[in-house]
Amino acid sequence: MNSKTNRAIGVFDSGIGGLTVVRSLMERLPFENIIYFGDTARVPYGIKSVETINRYAAQITEFLIKKDVKLLIVACNTMAAVAHQTIVDFANVPVAVSPRKIFVDPVPVLEVIDASARMAIQSTRNKSIGVIGTPATINSNAYARAIHLLDKEAKVFSQACPLFVPLVEEGWFDHPATRLIAQEYLKPVIAEQVDTLVLGCTHYPLLKPLLQDILGTEVNLIDSAEAMADIAANLIDKQNMGNQNNLPPDYTFYVSDLPYRFQTIGERFLGRTLGRVELVSL
Ligand code: DGL
Repeated sequence: MNSKTNRAIGVFDSGIGGLTVVRSLMERLPFENIIYFGDTARVPYGIKSVETINRYAAQITEFLIKKDVKLLIVACNTMAAVAHQTIVDFANVPVAVSPRKIFVDPVPVLEVIDASARMAIQSTRNKSIGVIGTPATINSNAYARAIHLLDKEAKVFSQACPLFVPLVEEGWFDHPATRLIAQEYLKPVIAEQVDTLVLGCTHYPLLKPLLQDILGTEVNLIDSAEAMADIAANLIDKQNMGNQNNLPPDYTFYVSDLPYRFQTIGERFLGRTLGRVELVSL
């Protein structure tokens, strides 16, 4: 096993959406190694049942724990909303990686919902907050609960946007069809005059310019990726687990289907080559 500080941060999502979190981590923590898993064979998760999402989340957690990560970041609101406990449980059971090698170290788990709720409360002036997310995230009510824990008086208007994830996975970030669908989805939150809109799915920041254009500059869009990088940096600092190697970091990307597609869209978004993208089956 590597010394704790050299071990990678494990980040995962159902597809390319979690790269929004990876981009912030690369900027905020430039010496940290990152292992990313995108479940491109089974995306989208947000329209699947709670049982299925829990099963997938457990498999990914086990995969990343076996890669010996020092920290797990759930870069997927859907999994954070309905499978958080499963992920924490699987991150903390001893994992046998061979008959003789067992990882027993508890691995901290960070997720995006709490970070976004905090940012939304800091941002709102009129206490009217919109939340957009996948059907699973919106139905779980996880955002309304997290926001109301911070401010009981805040009004939360939620809207599921099931077509956004496939459009993003298709790379249609600024396509007329995406604009038309977004105008339709955003109508109810615009009618409620929210001044803050939480992008409650890590795929949605890829649509940020288009959404901002439809909503106008007076609505503040909350992108949890930046908050997540800050929270991760604080935890790493507090627990003294920052990578001490002053070597260029190692980034490894695993996907469950078609690495080429993930690579082209991912590179377009990150503005850099992804390096190693490996196909795995869980
Ligand atoms: N990016 C994900 C999220 O934050 C998952 C979307 C999906 O697979 O439906 O919810």
